[in-house]
Amino acid sequence: MGDRAAVDDDSSVDGRLSPPPSFVEQANVGENLREEFDREWPACWNRAGECLSWETPADSVLDDSEPPFYRWFPGGQLNAAYNCVDRHLESGRKNHAAIRWEGKDGERRTYTYQELFVEVNECAAALRDLGVEEDDVVTIYLPMIPELPIAMLACARIGAPHSVVFAGLSAAALATRMDAAESDFLLTCDGYYRRGDAFNQKRKADNAVLSVDADVTTVVVDRLGEELTHVLGSNEHDYDDLLETHAGATVDPVTRDAEDMLFLMYTSGTTGEPKGVVHSTGGYLAYAAWTTRTVLDVKPKDTYWCAADIGWITGHSYIVYGPLALGTTTVMYEGTPDYPDRDRLWELVERMAVDVFYTAPTAVRAFMKWGTAYPEAHDLSSLRLLGTVGEPINPRAWHWYHEHIGGGECPIVDTWWQTETGGIAISTVPGVDDMKPGAAGKPLPGIEVDLLASDGTPVDSGETGYLTLSRPWPGMAKTLYDGDDRHLEEYWQQFSDPDAGRWRYASGDAARMDEDGYLTILGRVDDVINISGRRFSTMEIESAIVGVEGVAEAAVVGGPDGSDVYAYVSTERGTEPGAELEERVLAGVERAIGSIAQPGTIVFTPELPKTRSGKIMRRLLEDVTNGEPLGDTSALRNPEIVGEIQSTVRDQ
Ligand code: WTA
Repeated sequence: MGDRAAVDDDSSVDGRLSPPPSFVEQANVGENLREEFDREWPACWNRAGECLSWETPADSVLDDSEPPFYRWFPGGQLNAAYNCVDRHLESGRKNHAAIRWEGKDGERRTYTYQELFVEVNECAAALRDLGVEEDDVVTIYLPMIPELPIAMLACARIGAPHSVVFAGLSAAALATRMDAAESDFLLTCDGYYRRGDAFNQKRKADNAVLSVDADVTTVVVDRLGEELTHVLGSNEHDYDDLLETHAGATVDPVTRDAEDMLFLMYTSGTTGEPKGVVHSTGGYLAYAAWTTRTVLDVKPKDTYWCAADIGWITGHSYIVYGPLALGTTTVMYEGTPDYPDRDRLWELVERMAVDVFYTAPTAVRAFMKWGTAYPEAHDLSSLRLLGTVGEPINPRAWHWYHEHIGGGECPIVDTWWQTETGGIAISTVPGVDDMKPGAAGKPLPGIEVDLLASDGTPVDSGETGYLTLSRPWPGMAKTLYDGDDRHLEEYWQQFSDPDAGRWRYASGDAARMDEDGYLTILGRVDDVINISGRRFSTMEIESAIVGVEGVAEAAVVGGPDGSDVYAYVSTERGTEPGAELEERVLAGVERAIGSIAQPGTIVFTPELPKTRSGKIMRRLLEDVTNGEPLGDTSALRNPEIVGEIQSTVRDQ
């Protein structure tokens, strides 16, 4: 074991820890992986391709003739649902648990691979019968119930890309995404439970459908039964009835080209318009499976739990596609970590003997706040590896997680990636690399990172630079649904030099690299904000706030612990700032985006700090929010307002 110095210094990387020999011995991948990948690049990515079963083998690994529109596994053909379900029946694992679902109040369901096969087929048959054809985009607006991954796999089976919209997003957000994808099929439910309360989901879906351009066909899962009755309108179908009608039906998996779209996932960009990130079938699935195996060390016999929501990319890659492609048991949890009590997750880990656990740092910080008694009440010795994703994990939270959840033994992988990368791109490889709390680790084998200054020149070791990826990788987004031009503009233009044949993907994050090549991620450099590891555009939230009557202007910035949003709001003349307006601001954000994007703190101010050219100085507001020394205020038209805002924030 490495030294455990400076546990209290929470600001920087603090020492090194080696994975214990017991872990190293059994790890899926061993030493020399990086060297092998470097030597054999891009052929090394065949190893990802080999995680899958192909109907037609690819002609080559990579066609890079039209960068940055790289074609992975060109000529290859496969079906994602076949890879995640059927082939495990053929390999004699039909009675192995595929999904273990834990619902509200201890409600449980387990789907073996055989049972998953049956329901995915019935659902696929039903969707076809409703008119879903290959390449039609099906929108799925479901909470964490088994019908969500089943619907995704049913879509994949018939070659219809899915667009999953997080169930907590608002009707308006759902409608925007359906319109943008020209989607006229929707799967939703009557409602769901959150912390024991029943939420009406169908009302939101109905409102969205009303404002969508297309004539929408809707399938409704009856999740709440008697607790929340609903009436089906025209063009609405009950999920269970459909399955009954198609009981025992099977649908041949549709042959898809490696390059065909498997799904699109809307995510926040720097503008208020969400971006439809398009993922391919072959490259994406191969990368999801390979990273699950390499970084999360998942084995078919494992019970593996990624405690995220399938409504975001983490759930797509690491609850559904990666683990199911490997034939493991993936856990799905509907509830929250503190209901009915704060030991809920540990009770589940103990009961299911979970081997690998993957969550967000914001959750770890909550566990830490709740104290050690909750995990101590359970036997967590089944755990072999822990992971985090979505935001930086500070060394103190890292050590707490290591000590109190991992028993001081489990390695931790701090995994950096994005909706656009499809899978993990930076992390330690757990059986190979030493860990450094506070640093995510090195780029994965085959991935090349360059940290650049704004003029595109590399920064020195230890200096902060823009995080760019300078080699393509199989999980990379193919394009944006809005078109190749926006894709080029958003990700490739800034740091590429096409004349020199150099293409670099701009991640939108800043990072620092130490002398060993370990990267510390410093967060977004664009107008994207991370709230509890979820991604929103500041503009999206601001425009929701400005849409509230009486609000003149708004600026939002992330709070000190990464899980809170501060909104600075100026009011129109004649509008009193206060509790009533605050309520309306919160309601406005809930309506436009969803309650998850609601600011935790609203600061009313007569004016926002602005440059002489009238641009809001968000950077200064960030300093004020985080209690940091103020940067340069000389460019401000109204410098006096900053002091006023500072004292308001201090008093709140
Ligand atoms: C942030 C989530 C620090 C980062 C998978 C990135 C991280 C954004 C980490 C993508 C990490 C993700 N350390 N920051 N380990 N992982 N991020 O698209 O800012 O929802 O750009 O994908 O989350 O968020 P997204």
